Amino acid sequence: MIKSTDFGEDFLWGVATAAAQIEGTSDMYGKGPSIWDTFSAKNGKIKKGHKINAACDFYHRYREDIALVNVLGFKIFRFSIAWSRILPYGKGEINQEGIRFYHNVIDECLENGITPYITLYHWDLPQALEDEGGWTSFSINAAFNAFVSICALEFGDKVKNWIIINEPFGFTSLGYMLGVHAPGRTGLSNFFSAVHHTALAQAEGGKILRAEISKANIGTTFSCSEILPNTQSDSDIIAAKRIDCLMNRLFIEPTLGLGFPTADWDLLEKFQIEYGTWRHIDRYKFDFDFIGLQNYFPLTVKYNAFIPVIQAWEVKAKSRKKPHTAMGWEINPDSFYNIIKQFAAYTGVKNIIITENGAAYHDKIIDGTVNDAERIAYFQLYLTALLKAKNDGLPVTGYMAWTLMDNFEWAEGFNARFGLVYNDFKTQQRTIKDSGYWWQQFLNI
Ligand code: NOJ
Repeated sequence: MIKSTDFGEDFLWGVATAAAQIEGTSDMYGKGPSIWDTFSAKNGKIKKGHKINAACDFYHRYREDIALVNVLGFKIFRFSIAWSRILPYGKGEINQEGIRFYHNVIDECLENGITPYITLYHWDLPQALEDEGGWTSFSINAAFNAFVSICALEFGDKVKNWIIINEPFGFTSLGYMLGVHAPGRTGLSNFFSAVHHTALAQAEGGKILRAEISKANIGTTFSCSEILPNTQSDSDIIAAKRIDCLMNRLFIEPTLGLGFPTADWDLLEKFQIEYGTWRHIDRYKFDFDFIGLQNYFPLTVKYNAFIPVIQAWEVKAKSRKKPHTAMGWEINPDSFYNIIKQFAAYTGVKNIIITENGAAYHDKIIDGTVNDAERIAYFQLYLTALLKAKNDGLPVTGYMAWTLMDNFEWAEGFNARFGLVYNDFKTQQRTIKDSGYWWQQFLNI
């Protein structure tokens, strides 16, 4: 049976969250609206009409929740700062109540012997900035840089571990190309301009922290999935390569100074010409101290001429009769190993932390307990693959489980439960699931 000590003494163990998914009080204590407040208030955007509103009420319950991080045995708590809680309109006047709140959260962590890892952007753009074009507008970069500076100056003495952006591909594709996440924009031109500004923000944010915070440990995170062709036909293999460019390579390569992967996808070449992005290759680059990888599943894709732009389509785990979670995401620990290996192969990637990994299941609370044996099995499989990666010499130095407690899972609302702690959204009562107890044992051995 796998043990945490197998990973060595210095290996980092944490649990991750994000402001919009847990805080609640989204229109209180001076906070301005974010794009997720606006989006979730619209009909038909979130499953079952769920509204983000109270979420997990972490704003009022952060002490108890940080105590839970401690009880579960994690030494790292990853959370994000809601930009519109600090700057209600995205720029300009600072909301001191927001500043105080994050000081309190940080202090609570430190008093409990927990190291905070702060994410600066986890998808909740101030609505006022979206009204000016959001990530499609060049003015976003100055606004983001100012926000980063404020956070660095305020919290940089206490917090040394920072993540600039959470899954840039996730929010630019879902929110600016497909329109299924906030702000609900669609189309390639929105997508590509958002990609360009986000890639810049990531590097510029890193440079600001480096200049403002002494001894900062600076990272950023990328979603990643091993992409497998459905068959060995040329068309499936080419389709898989395109999806790999889009989902895995689009942000890491400019970050490493390699530019966008234009050679493997002609559309990116067109984007490059249209936006003149080759001129910015040096501006996209930043020497991160760690690269955060977030992996949940691999994707099997096949060629499909009818799908615009990508001409590829996913062949779902269910139809291939593969094990999957409640999200329909394939459980495949080998693919976890393979994708870590793929990212570790870049010479610029020196240090990898898994900043998210976990699984949603249809948990039920029965007589005060939640028996989520499937989630425990998921973690065991994925951690075994991670240990193999580490033992094979891949530079993985930490792991953060997604997520502390069931929360607002974006367009899925409160239906998808990823937590190690069960949350009753009516009463806000927290109950540690069996998987939480499993972690407690795993980390305390
Ligand atoms: C990615 C995101 O960073 C996080 O916010 C989300 O809840 C999980 N993955 C699960 O979908």
